[in-house]
Formats: sequence, structure tokens, C-alpha cells
Amino acid sequence: MKIAMLGTGFIGRFYADSLQGYRSKDKIVTIFSRKEESTKKFAEDYKVAFHTTNMEEAINHPEVEVVCLALPNDLHEEAVMLCCKHKKAVISTKPLGRNAEEAKRMLEAVEKAGIFNGYLEDLCYTPKFLKALESVKSGALGRILWAKSRETHPGPHSDWFWDIERAGGGCILDLGCHCVEITRNYIGKDIKPIEVMCWADTQVKPIDAEDHAIGLIKYENGSIAQFETSWTFRGGLDLRDEVMGTEGTIWVNSFLRTGFEMFTTGKGADYVAEKAESNSGWLFPVGDELNELGYNHMFMDMFNSMEKGTQPRETFYDGYVVNSVLDAAYRSAKTKQWEPVKLDIWRGREGVSKDSHLQDYDADHYLVKEELTHYGAKKVIIKNKKTGKISEKVLN
Ligand SMILES: NC(=O)c1ccc[n+]([C@@H]2O[C@H](COP(=O)([O-])OP(=O)(O)OC[C@H]3O[C@@H](n4cnc5c(N)ncnc54)[C@H](O)[C@@H]3O)[C@@H](O)[C@H]2O)c1
Repeated sequence: MKIAMLGTGFIGRFYADSLQGYRSKDKIVTIFSRKEESTKKFAEDYKVAFHTTNMEEAINHPEVEVVCLALPNDLHEEAVMLCCKHKKAVISTKPLGRNAEEAKRMLEAVEKAGIFNGYLEDLCYTPKFLKALESVKSGALGRILWAKSRETHPGPHSDWFWDIERAGGGCILDLGCHCVEITRNYIGKDIKPIEVMCWADTQVKPIDAEDHAIGLIKYENGSIAQFETSWTFRGGLDLRDEVMGTEGTIWVNSFLRTGFEMFTTGKGADYVAEKAESNSGWLFPVGDELNELGYNHMFMDMFNSMEKGTQPRETFYDGYVVNSVLDAAYRSAKTKQWEPVKLDIWRGREGVSKDSHLQDYDADHYLVKEELTHYGAKKVIIKNKKTGKISEKVLN
């Protein structure tokens, strides 16, 4: 693929390292960024022939096949509309929009223009996530009851994130977008998110947006998702997921304490891992950040899908659903009520009923629980279907 990279900052460089770092046939051919100096530096670092501070010029360059959007949130819509105008495939970083209205306009525009669109939700492509999802899909966890995702760190690295107008929100939007899509995948993308309850506050930073938030998302089949986000967490980048089903549980720790622990007095290199707050003492380095954070699998899916003429796992539609859930979270944080998720566009199942929680033990009873005790007895706790009486049997 021949790529236009819009943005040469934090994520632009992660993306470029992933795209060009493994003797890849994919190449960045044009670069757009705001400042001439950083654009030129990026072009030198990644050996890109053409660089410009004019966004349209980078997109409309004749060599460009796909545009990779790595710009601040308030520039996503402008960039997407230019891709539509010039009929260039577009893959966008998260969050798609600053709100569902923006995301919906972008979704409708790319579909009307008939261009390929992908949503760069890297945390839905980490090796651990892909394996965990495969287990969930194969039924290893049974019926999914609860999926939780946590992303917390000490706060983002550029000024615009902290400006509520430019970013569109605080940690709910910046980090919650990952958590919503991770948990939505586990619960089932075809299941409708219906209501959100959210607590949010500004506990530490002198900003208008929230720097700490926790939310619950109810799905139509009775499953519940939970997100935990913070820009005030101390100790690095905490990325953890938990999934609970009727037949099993998954715990995934993606970044801290992944089995690689190191002590140093601080004599070596300064960089340990993304958002690590220290370079001495006991540290949690990450073996291959590009891979652990999902970037490699993500671009592979995007470009393989483009070549095959299929849809990638994550599209602008998914970005729009995520924005709609987060809009409800913002409303709930204000009203302190469960707020409905407004989805003008919904492509999943409709009217899914809650799964039954009743499991037959025999014709007259439901099973409550079976357990083998430490003294060797097998106990069965059952409920009479007619009387509702709970009793236990000991089987030897
Ligand atoms: N894991 C992830 O998926 C992930 C991680 C970080 C950031 N992001 C997303 O990537 C996007 C960019 O974030 P970032 O961390 O790379 O930001 P950044 O501030 O590090 O980089 C922004 C880039 O955009 C360019 N730019 C062009 N016009 C600009 C303008 N008017 N104002 C400011 N910058 C301008 C800057 O020059 C810079 O190259 C955001 O949407 C963010 O949410 C995604």
C-alpha cells in the first residue's frame, strides 16, 4: 500500500514504525503535519519523498492509495471529508469523532463516496485480545455476563488533548473509546448497547473535562460492560480486561506486569515503555510495543481487507457506535441517571431477549449449584420449580 500519513506526532510515529518497521511492502509516500520542521524531520526519519503542511495536497497526491489519519480529534472530520472528495481509502485513529454526530457524518460520507474505511482500534488487535476473543467466540466462557476494560495513565502528552473543545472530552472519550470497543467485541458486536450509567469527575487536573470516570453499559441480551478510565493514574499505562461468562473467566493484563520485570538503578536508556513514569527501580518493560499494542495485526487486517475488497474487523460504523455509547456516558455523568444510547444507525440484531438464567436439574428442579467439598462429599443445591423451595442433596 502507498500511504499518506496525516500527523507526525505520538501516534503517527507508532503507526509509521509498524507500517515500515518489518521490511514491509507498505510505504508512506506523503506526509502532512502542521509545522514544516516536524514534517521534514518525520520525512527524513521514515525516508518519505513528499511532505507538506497542506492537508489536501498530501491526500490528493497521485501516488496515495490510502490515507492514515493520526491527527488531533478536531481535525478528523475535515480530513475524512477530503478523502471522500478525492476518493481515497481512509483509516482513522480513535476516537472517530468528538461525538456521535461528527462520527455519523463521517460514516455517511465515506459510504456515500464508496471508499474503504477502517477504524484503527489497535487494542482490538493485540495478540492477547485476539486469542481471548477467539476463546469467547468458541464458547469457552459460555454466555458472556460481564466484560470490563480499564485504561488508565497519568495523562496525555500534547496540549490539545487537555482542551475540551479540541479533544471533545476528557478521559471518557480518549480512553473509554478503547474500553467500549473491547467489551463490545466480547459481548457481541451484533448485540445492541441500550443504556449507560456513568460517574465522572475532575479530581486532579486544572481542566474543564473529566480526568477520572467509571461507567456501566447495559446490552439488550442482559450482559453488562464496564469501563474504567483515568488521566490521573500513577504508575504507567494500566491496560486490563476481564471477561466473565457462565462457563469461564478471562483476565488479560496488556501492559504492566506482563511477565517482564526489571530492576535498574537508572543507568541505562531513559525510555522503558509508553507512559512509564520512571526509568529506575523495578520496571515493567514491554518486549515489542508495536505488537503488544496491536498495531501490526491492525494494519495487516486493514490492508488485507482492502486488497480482498472486504471489510476490516473495525470500521467507521464501529467508531460511530462507540461515539454513541460515549455520548450517553457524558449525558449520564450529568443527569446521574441511566441514559439511553441513541443509535440512528444500527446494523446488529433487534429485539434480542434476555437469556434465561434457569438451568434444569431434573423435571421438578432447577440447579442452583454443585460443589465437591474438602471432606469428599458432592453437594447439589436445587430449587423446586413449583414451590420455589431451595434444598440440598449430598451425593457420595
Ligand atoms: N492507541 C491509539 O490508538 C492512540 C494513541 C494516541 C493517540 N491516538 C489518537 O491519535 C490522534 C493524534 O494523537 P497524537 O497523540 O498523535 O497527538 P500529537 O499531538 O502527538 O500529534 C498530532 C499531530 O497532528 C499534527 N497537527 C496538524 N494540525 C494540527 C493542529 N492544528 N493542531 C495540533 N496538531 C496538528 C501535529 O503536527 C502532529 O504531527 C488523536 O485522535 C488521538 O486520539 C490514538
